[in-house]
Amino acid sequence: PMGPRDLDASLLVVEENKDRKAPPPSSTLVFGHSFSDHMLTAAWNSKTGWAPPAIHAYRPLTLDPSSVIFHYAPSLFEGMKAYKDVQGRLRLFRPDMNMKRLNNSAHRIALPPVNGKERMLHGVPSEPGYSLYIRPTLIGTQAALGVHPTNDALLFCIMSPVGPYFKGGFKPVALEADPTRVRAWPGGTGHYKLGGNYAPTLRPQMEAASHGYQQNLWLFGEDHKLTEVGTMNLFVVLQNEGGNGYEIVTPPLNGTILPGVTRDSILTLARDHYREIEGLPSAQELTVSEREITMGEVQQAGKDGRLLEIFGAGTAAVVSPVDRIGFQGQDIDIPVGPEGIGKVAKAMLNRMNDIQLGRIEHPWSVCI
Ligand code: COI
Repeated sequence: PMGPRDLDASLLVVEENKDRKAPPPSSTLVFGHSFSDHMLTAAWNSKTGWAPPAIHAYRPLTLDPSSVIFHYAPSLFEGMKAYKDVQGRLRLFRPDMNMKRLNNSAHRIALPPVNGKERMLHGVPSEPGYSLYIRPTLIGTQAALGVHPTNDALLFCIMSPVGPYFKGGFKPVALEADPTRVRAWPGGTGHYKLGGNYAPTLRPQMEAASHGYQQNLWLFGEDHKLTEVGTMNLFVVLQNEGGNGYEIVTPPLNGTILPGVTRDSILTLARDHYREIEGLPSAQELTVSEREITMGEVQQAGKDGRLLEIFGAGTAAVVSPVDRIGFQGQDIDIPVGPEGIGKVAKAMLNRMNDIQLGRIEHPWSVCI
């Protein structure tokens, strides 16, 4: 007897959307507001496995109101970008990392594993700084109110042409660090990309905004360890005590930190290639650390003039410079210079762009 079927890309059914619209002019794009005119769906059942995947017109989903997704939030997603490179070919940036993380997330909330590679890339904007944001999503759809692993699931993938996160230059963000707001905790789900991790961040973000800060700096523990910023991983650049050399610090993957693809890429670039990266302080020694860093240490470095940069790192914005942190009633200012972005963040961004756009050949950037 045959077991449940794997997801099989060779069974792909393609129904062309006859009503294809011209993509909106790139200059009008707002992140995540426009979508490609096709999407992929694949349904899964615990007995039969994956039905053949289909590419069809972008359209609403129809789900029973008792579907578990609406009640208990079995939902995960991924974000990655497709780029048109300098020769007009399409490239994905480290898609294997997203696939692996998708399956880790699925395992945590008892959704089925997804194996397979899908291609459905129409309308990738070609202007510099523009790309196609790809959003695979997997949800439980069984129509039943019991709290148990779902017997039905739906994988879908939608795509959104996007522009530079910060149009017309960088706008550094101010962060509020309030230790009473907690994003993730040991034994929890902070290191999985679950939909349910994001809704609880909205009220804290609104509170921070009402105090004049754009984003939350998520702390953890009595000693106020820095963890993430907004929806991004976090990097701190410190000058060493004594003034000689720099340290690039990001919190370790201890179960409360999302294992970001951009985080991993920046760490690897900084460790392996920093000497080749224009703009980085190559004469001095550069240390790259995955270690805990507390607000006390950041405050002290700020007082000593050794706090050089703080930036967020994620797929959507790549890097997002920070110029101010509010903590315990005081502001810590972080220099960002006239361009609104520090040297390390800028060097990393440029290097990432070069790889993503195929200006530098690199195994991370996969031609498709
Ligand atoms: C990021 O790329 O920074 C993200 O976390 C994606 C965001 C739209 C949820």
